[in-house]
Amino acid sequence: MYFFFLLLYFLAEEIWCDYRLNSEKNQSLKAYCGTKPSHQGKFDRRPIAGGREISGKEAPWAVYIQYPSSWCSATMISPRHILSASHCLMKNSAEFSESLKRLRRECDGNDLILYPDNNEFSVKNSYGALLSDRVFKIVFSNYCYPQATFRYDDMMIWELKESIQLDDYAFPACISNNLEFQSLDTEVRVTAYGHNSWDFHNSDGKGTSLLRDGTFRIIGGFKEGRFIAISGDKWADQIRPGDSGGSVIHYVNGQYYTIGSISTASQTDFYSEATSVYAHYSQICHHTGIC
Ligand SMILES: *[C@@H]1O[C@H](CO)[C@@H](O)[C@H](O)[C@H]1NC(C)=O
Repeated sequence: MYFFFLLLYFLAEEIWCDYRLNSEKNQSLKAYCGTKPSHQGKFDRRPIAGGREISGKEAPWAVYIQYPSSWCSATMISPRHILSASHCLMKNSAEFSESLKRLRRECDGNDLILYPDNNEFSVKNSYGALLSDRVFKIVFSNYCYPQATFRYDDMMIWELKESIQLDDYAFPACISNNLEFQSLDTEVRVTAYGHNSWDFHNSDGKGTSLLRDGTFRIIGGFKEGRFIAISGDKWADQIRPGDSGGSVIHYVNGQYYTIGSISTASQTDFYSEATSVYAHYSQICHHTGIC
């Protein structure tokens, strides 16, 4: 009998395909998320473009995602959910690449959902180890909105069919709907995998795919709050290609919160834009169960 129910339970997960966190998992996540590493290290700052190289242990939420044509930075926000930037896969909802075009898709409100049918989408940690290549769905926030491009909204969520094994190199950051976490002049860290050359286009190809850490401050919000603007001027830190989807991190009361996801950057100064987690909190909750 017990076996029968167990079987039903697993079948149900496969058939109805619900990998959102249930309220129990949501509650426990809220308690342990962002608790690694156990205290915020003091960083020795060096004025190199795009920040300082760090070990994955210092930012275990900072995963990167690979897909048929390229890769991007991303943030683990639960053992089954990864946050990144829509433009990594698709700059505009009308411009499907060949590999995305053939995937089953649907609109859920204004959000576009694609269902991968293969293992071409994968999540890796800072030393390149595969964390999962079983992606159930990919959510592009507001890409079913008629005029949407990544300049309108730029948040993407991957939901996995399995839970990532957590350790010192793979551990979720928290998300929050506290607007104060993104208030003006707040000092935040950015962790991402772009290059560290002063040359924006990195023509010598050095220093790519390194996990780096930079310090920035919040200088504003725009587009009805969907984006936040950050600047690394005080620390001479800049955002670079490859940092897209990277984590904007705010450390509060012993927990690391991701408050944004890197979207675009200026080639010439320290200015850059990130998609606001606060502005997308209810969408994230709806799709992931992290509420
Ligand atoms: C998720 O957990 C948090 C913290 O315990 C709680 O405040 C919130 O109501 C929970 N939401 C759901 C939908 O379970």
